[in-house]
Amino acid sequence: MCGIVGYNGRKDALPILIEGLKRLEYRGYDSAGVVVIGQQLMVQKAAGQISVLEGRLEDAPGTVGLGHTRWATHGKPSDVNAHPFVDCTGDLAVIHNGIVENYQALKDELLEKGHEFVSETDTETLAHLFEDLYDGDLVAAVRAGLRRVEGNYAVGVVHKDHPSTIVAARKENPLVVGTSPAGETLLASDVTPLLGFTNEFQFVEDGDVVVLGEGTIEITDLDGRPVDRPVQTVDWSVEDAQRGGFEHFMLKEIFEQPQAILESLMGRITEEELSNLVPVEDVDKVKIIACGTSYHAGLIGKYILEALAGLDTTVEMASEYRYSNLARETALVLAITQSGETIDTISAVREAKRRGTTTMAITNVVGSSITREADHIVYTRAGPEIGVAATKTFTTQLIALYLIAISLGTRRRTVGAEQLRVLREGLRRLPSQVQQVLNSKNLIKGVAETIHDRRDVYFIGRNINYPIALEGALKLKEISYIHAEGYPAGEMKHGPNALLGPETPVIAIVVDDLVRPKMLSNIGEVAARESPVYAVGLEEDVELEKLVDVVIPVPRTNAIFSPVVVVVALQLLSYYTAHMRGCSIDKPRNLAKSVTVE
Ligand code: AGP
Repeated sequence: MCGIVGYNGRKDALPILIEGLKRLEYRGYDSAGVVVIGQQLMVQKAAGQISVLEGRLEDAPGTVGLGHTRWATHGKPSDVNAHPFVDCTGDLAVIHNGIVENYQALKDELLEKGHEFVSETDTETLAHLFEDLYDGDLVAAVRAGLRRVEGNYAVGVVHKDHPSTIVAARKENPLVVGTSPAGETLLASDVTPLLGFTNEFQFVEDGDVVVLGEGTIEITDLDGRPVDRPVQTVDWSVEDAQRGGFEHFMLKEIFEQPQAILESLMGRITEEELSNLVPVEDVDKVKIIACGTSYHAGLIGKYILEALAGLDTTVEMASEYRYSNLARETALVLAITQSGETIDTISAVREAKRRGTTTMAITNVVGSSITREADHIVYTRAGPEIGVAATKTFTTQLIALYLIAISLGTRRRTVGAEQLRVLREGLRRLPSQVQQVLNSKNLIKGVAETIHDRRDVYFIGRNINYPIALEGALKLKEISYIHAEGYPAGEMKHGPNALLGPETPVIAIVVDDLVRPKMLSNIGEVAARESPVYAVGLEEDVELEKLVDVVIPVPRTNAIFSPVVVVVALQLLSYYTAHMRGCSIDKPRNLAKSVTVE
């Protein structure tokens, strides 16, 4: 959601900014713009894809500038509502992620002073506010302006009279800065546009103001007091953040899962390593909070933690948890967020802390906002995920949950030595078993062929694979725009069966677990309503084969690990279905990778 990039160096800034914006595209956007400091500020912006902006660019010599991708909140996507915004003099330009909540009051005040506004956005207020407060000291004007702002922001500001300075600041919206070995200073919403310049970053924190000069980065608080932000190394490469020959990032990321799972297990699987994973003592209850796909990982986490660690576990959507009436929290709160930037999840963690409990987070992004909020962090090691649809971050979240549950289970003696051996063995086999599912891609493409022109699709599963039915449906609707619903198979007869028929395919998940006989009966009920049934099931399941139209085979795992192999088949099914429908797979309409507004 909105992306910021800034460059201050000796090279032409414009192509660097455009390339940076392209690397931020995955966050989701509807318009883009750039500003480069020359004799004057050169500002260009356009609604639509970055290619539209590129088509409008003229040569703009200048080695310092800012770029922005906008995801509309105030005012429709249009050229005029795109960032950067300049003040009335045309000398100062602002880009902004976030929301200025008191923008109307500020705007009224500035209008009265004679400022002229051109857009419907909240951000334009910042340009006029900083101009109003500017008396030759840009940093002082930004500090004074931000003190008056209610809401949240990651902001970048340049001024024609300060040609080698970028001023930036953060409150609740991500911002990272770094210096390249050549002395270029850079900023961005996340590290992906900066890889290739440096792997060493400082993650800007709430209330920080950053001045990027020629080879220097100074970070202070809003009152100008220096603050120390440690330099952190992110060992992702430029190639990690590129498509590498795949048609879409999503497909690449689906195929990276064997490696991502392997890396998420590395150094964490021996008894000693497991015992260090969860530094929290005396856990007797867990509450998982998350959104979207991460919430589905949380639902599976409930089964895992209850089964392996004997811990009562509840799961809540982060956006709902914040507004519950609970006065005191007694469970360990475990937040799951791949990006580490989802505002609802971050706010829920803050609320949990306010209610007096310990918090832990599973995230994929080093230095992301959640890492500063939660008391303890467990990283997934999926590498950068660019496609809006979460794939490898989901399966590695599951791996993190298995490891956490095994760690707590051994400590609580609910996992004995023999079970530990079996679980470790099962985890070690997962990368090659996921590879086996990937090898069935042609068969899955065939199923996609039969469902790609349908209006509705149902996904059914039970027990630990019920959340996978939810995830299968979310993935399909998110990227193919087909209406899809996930249901616990036993619930179909309590309502949804009324919607079944030859036009409505059902995808059923059947593995060798305690609910298999029930699943087979539920499939019978669905098939009796003439819905075509496609199953994700064990390759050797002859009985299942007789009941359904097609079986997408997955290898046999310990039932508790089955969500990992099943979901990969459903990810591929969604991908190929969306592909056949000609959808924008990596950037589905109306969605953003990082949801930084409530
Ligand atoms: C999944 O495909 C979606 N892109 C979305 O549901 C996502 O999982 C959700 O927005 C939560 O994101 P997070 O894991 O970064 O917090």
